[in-house]
Amino acid sequence: MPEWVRICEPEAIPPGHAACVEIDERPVAVFNVGGSFYALDDTCSHALASLSEGELHPDSCSVECPLHGSQFDLRTGDAVSLPAVEPVQVHLVEVRDGGLWVALNPEEP
Ligand code: FES
Repeated sequence: MPEWVRICEPEAIPPGHAACVEIDERPVAVFNVGGSFYALDDTCSHALASLSEGELHPDSCSVECPLHGSQFDLRTGDAVSLPAVEPVQVHLVEVRDGGLWVALNPEEP
């Protein structure tokens, strides 16, 4: 069973914005794309950069790493442009009871 953590109210991360939270000492980036929330590891798979500080691309539902510009699909965590080739882990996120909840992915390999 995933352990859900209430991180904030949904309104705290408006559309087009992101936040970084720590869950079990793991930085997790949470993005709001047009009212839909996505959560994935905050640390880029290429080097040490914070994806929550990257530029959001709502049309492709992706984020661009602020350091070298790789884009990651927020739905799958896949790196869709170089130089990163490894994906980042996606996590579970949902809105309920007036809160925004995140759980680390229990299916992580
Ligand atoms: S650190 Fe993200 S692409 Fe290099």
